[in-house]
Amino acid sequence: MKYYLTTPIYYVNAAPHLGTAYSTFAADLIKRFKKMEGFDPVVFTTGSDEHSLKVERAAQAAGTNPLAYTTKMAAEFISQWAKLGIDYDHFIRTSDPKHHETVRWLFERCEKNGYIYKGSYTGAYCVNDEAYVNDVNPGDACPTCGRPTETVTEENYFFKLSAFQKPLLELYEKHPEFVKPDHRRNEMIAFVQQGLNDLSITRTNIQWGIPAPVEGHHVFYVWFDALISYMSAVKNDDLWPADLHLIGKDILRFHAVYWPAFLMAADLPLPKQVFAHGWILHEENKMSKSRGNVVRPGPIVDVVGADALRYFLLREITFGQDGSFSYDALIQRYNADLANGLGNLASRTLTMIQQYRNGAIPYSPGSPEIAEAARRTTEITMDAFCDFNFSRGLETLWSFISVIDKFIVERAPWKLGKDNSEFAQNMLNETLYSAAEALRILCAWTYPVMPNSARNIWIQLGMKAPIESVTFADLHWGKLPAGQKIGSVAAVFPRLDASAIAKMEVLEVQEKARQAELFGTAKAAAIPAATPEAAKIGIDDFVKVDLRVGRVVSAERVKGADKLLHMKVDIGEEQPRTIVAGIAESYPPEQMLGRKVVIVANLQPRKLRGIESNGMIVAASVEGGKPVLAGFLEDVPVGARLK
Ligand code: MSP
Repeated sequence: MKYYLTTPIYYVNAAPHLGTAYSTFAADLIKRFKKMEGFDPVVFTTGSDEHSLKVERAAQAAGTNPLAYTTKMAAEFISQWAKLGIDYDHFIRTSDPKHHETVRWLFERCEKNGYIYKGSYTGAYCVNDEAYVNDVNPGDACPTCGRPTETVTEENYFFKLSAFQKPLLELYEKHPEFVKPDHRRNEMIAFVQQGLNDLSITRTNIQWGIPAPVEGHHVFYVWFDALISYMSAVKNDDLWPADLHLIGKDILRFHAVYWPAFLMAADLPLPKQVFAHGWILHEENKMSKSRGNVVRPGPIVDVVGADALRYFLLREITFGQDGSFSYDALIQRYNADLANGLGNLASRTLTMIQQYRNGAIPYSPGSPEIAEAARRTTEITMDAFCDFNFSRGLETLWSFISVIDKFIVERAPWKLGKDNSEFAQNMLNETLYSAAEALRILCAWTYPVMPNSARNIWIQLGMKAPIESVTFADLHWGKLPAGQKIGSVAAVFPRLDASAIAKMEVLEVQEKARQAELFGTAKAAAIPAATPEAAKIGIDDFVKVDLRVGRVVSAERVKGADKLLHMKVDIGEEQPRTIVAGIAESYPPEQMLGRKVVIVANLQPRKLRGIESNGMIVAASVEGGKPVLAGFLEDVPVGARLK
C-alpha cells in the first residue's frame, strides 16, 4: 500500500533555517518509519513556493528577474536538503510548467462546477503573509505578523468558499483524524463555524505568477497556486490523495479549510491528514527571517552532524508544541544521550565482544528480562511513532538504554571474563548477546531519526542486510545471528566540549554572510566597487601599514559597552598588546581566547571607554551583518608580517 506525504513548499526569499528544516526532518523521519511499517511505495514531496509579491520584490531588490532569482534559491534549498541528508522523492517548483498546467486544470474544474465567479475586491492585504486580512482597515497592522497591510483594489475571480462551511464541518466531524493534533482541529471548527467569506483567487497587480485561463491579465493567488503543488508533483503517479500534509501551525487554515474546499469544488479526493507542528523558538520568539533570530542548520551539521541536530529537535520538543533551540541545550543533550548514552553502549558492547569472544556474537538466547524489556520498548515506541509523538518514542528508547547499562554493570562481564567456569562463561555469553541484540533493535528504531549513525553502528555489529530494508518484523528479539563477526569498532558520537559552540557560532556568522551574498542582500560596506584612479595608492604607501599575526591571550567584555571586547594580543613582542575592538556581538570573549587574528600594529593609540587601544583587528564588513574576522587556513606563527 502506498503512503504519500508532503512538507510545505518553502518560500524562496530566505534560505532554510532550523524552523523550516524542522518540517523537513520530521517528514524524512516519517518516510523512513512508514517504510519500516511496510508501506510501499512511500513517496515524499517537498519544493519551493516561487510566485508572490514578496518574491517579485526580493528579486527586484537583488537586481535580477524572478525566474533567475528563484532558480538560484531553489538550488540553495536542494543543496541544503542534501547536506541534511533528506531523502525526498520530488522537489516541485511552482515555476515548473507541469505545475502551471495542473493549477489551470484544477481551476477549470472548479469553474465548471460553478464555484468561480468574477467580482471586485477592495481591502487590506498583508504582503508578508500573502493573505487578505478581513478584520482591519487597509494600512492597519496585520493581526498575524504585525506588519502594515496594504490597500488592494482589484477585479478578481472569486472562489465560493462560503459554500463549503457545512461540508467542511462534516469533514471534521466524520474524519476527526483529518486535522491533528486535536486542539488544532477544534481551532479550525471554531473558525469555520464563524462563517466563511469567498476568497479572491486571482490577482491583477503582479506579473510573477501563473496566468489564469481567463480574459485579461490575471495570475493566481499564491496560495491557490501553492497548495496544488502537492498534486502536480505526483499528477501521473497514482498517488493522490496524499496521506499526510506536514505543516507548521501558522499555515493550518490554508491546509485545513481552503485546500479541502478547493478539492471538493473540483470533485477530487481529499488528503487523509493534515498535521500541524509547533514552532521552533529562539531567544523566546518564533525563529524567522523577518525577526532576524534565525539559526542555520549548515554550521551545526558541520560541527555535530545532521543526525545529532535531528535527534535534538525531535527529542527535545514534543511534536505539535512549540519548543526552544539553544546551542547549550544541543551540546548537553548530545553529550548526555548520544556520547554517553547510545554511543557508549555501542562501543562498550562491541569492544567486549571483540575482547572476550574474538569479535563473534556468542550463542545464547539472551536474558529473558532484557528480551521482555525490548518487547515493551518496541510496543510503546511503535504507538508513540504512529501518533507522531517522537519525543515520547525516543524517551522510551533511551530508558531502554539505561536498562541495558544497568544490566551490564550488574553482570560485570569484566569479572565473568576472568572466571573460566561453565556457569560464568554462559553468563558472559548471555550478557554479551543481550547487549548486542538490544543494540541491534535500538539501531533499527533510531534509524528513522538518525539514519547515518544508526547505519554506522549497524555495520559495526556486522549486520549483512542494509538497515534501509529493516521492517517491524525484524524488531523481534533473537534475530541477531549468533556467530556473526562484528565489524571494526569506532566511536560514533565523540564527546563535545564548549569549543563546539564557539565553532558553530563562528560558522554561523560565515554562513549568514554567504547567504546574504547569495540572496543579494549583502553589499560591501563603505567601499565603492572600484577605487577611482586618483585614489589608488602605491606599494610604498601599502608597506607603511604594519599588518601582523597575533594570538588573543585574554579577552573580556567592556562594562557598559555591548559591542566592545578588551583583549590582550600576543604579536611576538615582549608584552601582549592591549586592543579594544567592536566585535563582542559576533564573538563572545570565550570564543576569542587562543584565536589567531590579523592586527594593524602601527596605528596611533586610541582611547575607547578609557582603555588605550594599541592596534586594530582586521575584519570583513558586510552591510547589515556583523563583522567577520580575517583568519588563515594554514597555521601561521605569531608575529608574522602580512605583505
Ligand atoms: N510557502 C508557504 C507554504 C506553502 S505550502 C503549500 C510557507 N512557506 S514558509 O517558508 O514561510 O514556511 C514553510 C513552513 O516552515 C511552514 O510550515 C512554517 O510553519 C514552517 N516554519 C517556519 N518557521 C518556523 C519555525 N520557527 N518553527 C517551526 N516551523 C516554522 O508558509
